[in-house]
Amino acid sequence: MIIHNQENHVTTFINISEFLKHHLQGEHSVALNTILSDVIEACKNITVVIDKGALTGNMGNLGSENIQGEVQKALDVITDDIFIKTCQQSGYVAGMASEELVDVIEIADNNRKNGQYLLLFDPLDGSSNVNVNISVGTIFSILKSSNKKPELSDFLQAGTEQICAGYALYGTSTMLVLTTGNGVNGFTLDVDSNEFLLTHPDMQIAKDTQEFAINMSNYRFWREPVQRYIDECLQGEEGDRKKDFNMRWVASMVAEIHRILIRGGVFMYPTDSKSRSGKLRLMYEANPMSFIVEQAGGASTTGTQRILEVKPSGIHQRVPVMMGSKNEIERIAAYHQAKSKRK
Ligand code: AHG
Ligand code: MN
Ligand code: MN
Repeated sequence: MIIHNQENHVTTFINISEFLKHHLQGEHSVALNTILSDVIEACKNITVVIDKGALTGNMGNLGSENIQGEVQKALDVITDDIFIKTCQQSGYVAGMASEELVDVIEIADNNRKNGQYLLLFDPLDGSSNVNVNISVGTIFSILKSSNKKPELSDFLQAGTEQICAGYALYGTSTMLVLTTGNGVNGFTLDVDSNEFLLTHPDMQIAKDTQEFAINMSNYRFWREPVQRYIDECLQGEEGDRKKDFNMRWVASMVAEIHRILIRGGVFMYPTDSKSRSGKLRLMYEANPMSFIVEQAGGASTTGTQRILEVKPSGIHQRVPVMMGSKNEIERIAAYHQAKSKRK
């Protein structure tokens, strides 16, 4: 695909299907190619709905709550439907699970003839941002099922078992970022051709950073190691870290992780005395994002354990999340270890 920019310079980009044809190797390549083409279609369809904004009259809350007890936005449900409808008929997806639905989604017998893959997703991440026109996203994860007709227990696999993870960011442009365990690549949706083009090959997270993302209003509820880390960032040049830090908080995990992939940083949603186990969901948010972050050279922890090694006990379980630039995440983990030793 050839793109002419404003100065009429010509740049050639490869599109995502050409990229996947060469990039996907090994036993899952045919299945992933097929499943991902549906995921790509779903993200394009969601882009159209998000871009229409208030024109669709879908910006408000529904009266309902999701399984997490959170008020559902109309768009949470609309994007959930789009994702399910677009991805359930490839023949390779044997079961799905959504942040928005209590039970796992069964796939009809004639739609799961070819393979035994599981697709888990958060259809609209950061949905509190949707009616203020700030970036939102979709996050997904693909696992292999050991059962042709998957049951709940087939979904409860550690993040290390993921064979693919990715997100779409509906930002100033729509981007798709994904990993199949062989690096991280980012694609930008070209609105003229309606194709995702490879604009960010082999994304890498800087090992060091001077930028953190956390909801500071929860400060008094955090545990001591998190307070210590943030206190030191705030002390800046005058404190032990001897450098000033910057802070960002979009309140869309997809946007924060994307920023970290581009310019480094740490993202934290720790345990606190209000929520106990954290806010973010292991299967739909923490695991796929951890896979991406690690594949880009970053690190990801609950504070005491590598997120990808957490053995899930429930499909909607929440975990504390700290991920991003490797040296900072190691420091945060060391502060947690020091605290537990002092106990
Ligand atoms: P979701 O919209 O899927 O429920 O996720 C929102 C999450 C995450 O994207 C974001 O980082 C965090 O919630 C924001 O939390 P606060 O409202 O505490 O800022
Ligand atoms: Mn989310
Ligand atoms: Mn969501």
